[in-house]
Amino acid sequence: MLSAESAALVRATLPAVAGALDEITTRFYATMFHDRPELLDGMFNRGNQASGAQRRALAGSIAGFAGALLADPGARPDGLLSRIAHKHAAVGVTDDQYTVVHKYLFGAIAEVLGDAVTPEVAAAWDEVYWLMAGALISREALLYQDAGVQPGGIWRPWTVVERRTETPDVVSFVLRPADGGRAPRARAGQYVSVRVRMADGTHQLRQYSLSSNPGGELRRITVKRVTGGADGPDGEVSTLLHDRLREGDGLLLSAPFGDVFLDDPVDATTPVVLVSAGIGCTPMTGILAHLAALRSIRPVLLLHADRSPGDHALRAETHDLVGRLPSARAVFWYDRPGPEEPDARTGPMDLSGTELPDDATVFLCGPLPFMREVRGQLLGAGVPARRIRYEVFGPDLWLPDTAA
Ligand SMILES: Cc1cc2nc3c(=O)[nH]c(=O)nc-3n(C[C@H](O)[C@H](O)[C@H](O)COP(=O)(O)OP(=O)(O)OC[C@H]3O[C@@H](n4cnc5c(N)ncnc54)[C@H](O)[C@@H]3O)c2cc1C
Ligand code: HEM
Repeated sequence: MLSAESAALVRATLPAVAGALDEITTRFYATMFHDRPELLDGMFNRGNQASGAQRRALAGSIAGFAGALLADPGARPDGLLSRIAHKHAAVGVTDDQYTVVHKYLFGAIAEVLGDAVTPEVAAAWDEVYWLMAGALISREALLYQDAGVQPGGIWRPWTVVERRTETPDVVSFVLRPADGGRAPRARAGQYVSVRVRMADGTHQLRQYSLSSNPGGELRRITVKRVTGGADGPDGEVSTLLHDRLREGDGLLLSAPFGDVFLDDPVDATTPVVLVSAGIGCTPMTGILAHLAALRSIRPVLLLHADRSPGDHALRAETHDLVGRLPSARAVFWYDRPGPEEPDARTGPMDLSGTELPDDATVFLCGPLPFMREVRGQLLGAGVPARRIRYEVFGPDLWLPDTAA
């Protein structure tokens, strides 16, 4: 609970802190990685550092949490904390590291805001930090326990048993634990981190949704090659996986995490709507495969937008899974339709001609502009915000706007 004295100081300084968060977080990461380079090698995603996305996500989460505490001193905004805790578990964050982050974050705040940070102001923000850290640490402890791993001990070697080209720029890898043991339990919609050694000898992590649960001890990820352009270079890990990873090779995977998954009871009968664009199809096929394995009778509506049928990864499999579910149907939108999908619609996803089932749980995944647009359409069609669950394929820069 945030004390009344601290609340007054946080309220008075929130505009100044929020206004300087970009500079504070830039300085924070720079000094922390200078002193603790091992965190950038093998923990933080350097693409997200270079693009500034992680900095903005951190700043947004702190401002969002402080704002929630001012509205209700006992607040623990669930959506915000849950997403971060799952991501932290997927990269192996441990509770002792919160002291390290605290040191560099508060050093950066003092440097950037100078004399405005009196000892009283620093103590008030300290309280905010440790309330947030405490909430995250307890959630992460539960996640590690639930996954059956030691805190931070998330890595396990797997072997690629099949590599399959899905489209010109998407490849699937089917994996099996290299130690011959059981695959960990994964919930439909969750993701794993992969940890790879880059050409310069450093290590990088990335997350990939489990795009199917092919049975037994097998798991599958489906990776799109990120091609650079005017805005940035080629994606380093996706390029490495495409160019280097072959059948028989090893790959380090984390235990599965992620708070966007199908958590209804197996005998649930309420409808499910799966909405995706591009490579955002991967958690959706994971959920669809799960429903098919359960022989679910739930009404399922799968909506997907892509550039063309040829670019639509897992398209044939999606048809197959939809065909195995008695009450499922799919609607596709393509910028460039083709004869392979004569019933598809042309252009961006437009739900105006689509009847949405009542009381559905909606899962949404794709590029942020797509998700913003479609979420607006869903809300306009009367779907309550609390029924829309979304996965962002990067640091969540959306949550602060939608935390309510
Ligand atoms: C929960 C979750 C699930 C995911 N599931 C999937 C999935 O199922 N399939 C899938 O394909 N992906 C998935 N992703 C995305 C995946 O984790 C990676 O982000 C993606 O593969 C790109 O990684 P990369 O290393 O190839 O690109 P990075 O090297 O990380 O680059 C990413 C972007 O940053 C830009 N960038 C890099 N450096 C700079 C720079 N210096 N200046 C400017 N811009 C720069 C690049 O141009 C590129 O556009 C998921 C992500 C999350 C968080
Ligand atoms: C109160 C303290 C902290 C806050 C508020 C915080 C906040 C965040 C946020 C908002 C994200 C992005 C989540 C997303 O994907 O949407 C994130 C990711 C991450 N955090 Fe934290 N974090 C904290 C502490 C820590 C600590 C102690 C560590 C360990 C050194 C850490 C390491 C990471 C890493 C490695 C990522 C993933 C980065 C990436 O993929 O680019 N965080 N954190």
